[in-house]
Amino acid sequence: MAQRFDAIVIGAGAAGMYCAAQAGRRGLRVALLDHWPRLAEKIRISGGGRCNFTNLDAGRVDRFAGENPAFARNALRALPPGRFIEQVRRRGIAFHEKHKGQLFCDESSERIIAMLREDCDAAGVHWFRPVTVDDVEPEAGFVIRTREAGELRADAVVVATGGLAIPKAGASDLGLRIARRFGHRIVEPRPALVPLTFDAQAWRPYAELAGVALPVTVRAPGTPGAPAFDEDLLFTHRGLSGPAVLQISTFWKRGDPLAIDLAAGNDLTARLIEAKRATRQQLAGALAGLLPRRLAARWLADERFAALCTKRLAEIADRELATVAAALRDWQIVPTGTEGFRKAEVMAGGVATDELDPRSMQSFKAPGLYFVGEVVDITGWLGGYNFQWAWSSGFLAGQAI
Ligand code: FDA
Repeated sequence: MAQRFDAIVIGAGAAGMYCAAQAGRRGLRVALLDHWPRLAEKIRISGGGRCNFTNLDAGRVDRFAGENPAFARNALRALPPGRFIEQVRRRGIAFHEKHKGQLFCDESSERIIAMLREDCDAAGVHWFRPVTVDDVEPEAGFVIRTREAGELRADAVVVATGGLAIPKAGASDLGLRIARRFGHRIVEPRPALVPLTFDAQAWRPYAELAGVALPVTVRAPGTPGAPAFDEDLLFTHRGLSGPAVLQISTFWKRGDPLAIDLAAGNDLTARLIEAKRATRQQLAGALAGLLPRRLAARWLADERFAALCTKRLAEIADRELATVAAALRDWQIVPTGTEGFRKAEVMAGGVATDELDPRSMQSFKAPGLYFVGEVVDITGWLGGYNFQWAWSSGFLAGQAI
């Protein structure tokens, strides 16, 4: 005889645990399924083991990407960052703000996992893990066939299986398969918050800069409306990484250039002209005072500037200094790809939002079916936004079931 529940939540990650606890607290009989042997692996490894669990600005829909970021508004209003922060504080979990509103645990991500697990237990949630879900079918509600626990039945199913990023941490395409099976449109999934790579030949001159980091402003000029990010850039052997590049990767489209201001908004022309008036430096020395030394040297090795490199600033016309500065302030390069889902922090794309009810996360195609968290086509910026989306969307569905 199949066990019957009011709701079955598939995926015991951030969104799934939050949703199950909310639904259970309302008196519903809830089952929570997961296939991975370790609970909430993504939370565990997040934020370098300290879980950047939200951002003070995470209530703003302009901090999210997707076909329709405004879809997230209802969920973020229903459970704004302040409410999650209050919950964390009440549990005695110490935290601190690190950078641009990012809140991290002082100790360990394990504290957040323990909080969510205890909330599920207190709400009487029935755990099934690890279990392999073979199929979800509509049949007097829904029937879920698992290998280890047989058939489970419920009036509602919440898909909280996350995205495709980091298969080694339990990611799978089950949520996307369920969505397709029920006729949902999928916005093409792609790696996001991910390092960008370059053709090995083209990258050779820059590969020697691996390890160099500096503050920059980065844009994706091929994507109208994409934000510019003021963050650190990191050169790697294969391409570019660091927060600036992870952020812009969500908005970058294959074949398009990145535009990078290596002076991070500083008026480099004025600085060079100032140095020309005040010192007897060569251009190479002056530039090395304004940029990481290895980057300055590499830049002036370019055939466009090599002739100027060892000249004294006094010998170089202001117009020529302006040309050097302009090139540094608008470095346009075309990445060939990304490091892929193996290294991505999240999946962009997913279940299209126009077929979901923003007030409940319920499917318009299959009443009783809900999608929450990263499997939905809502992608937050780097810095705690993706967890806030998981908590908020999980909360909304947990209230609505
Ligand atoms: P999540 O991935 O948390 O949970 C999905 C669950 O479904 C998992 O438990 C998985 O095992 C289960 N599942 C998958 N397939 C299944 C199947 N076939 N059958 C049964 N169960 C299945 N975000 C942020 O805001 N701050 C941060 O600090 C970080 N840091 C970070 C670091 C790294 C290395 C990564 C990879 C990601 C982050 N993120 C982050 C992103 C964040 O982890 C992510 O957006 C949320 O965990 C998404 O929550 P979900 O609940 O949607 O998926």
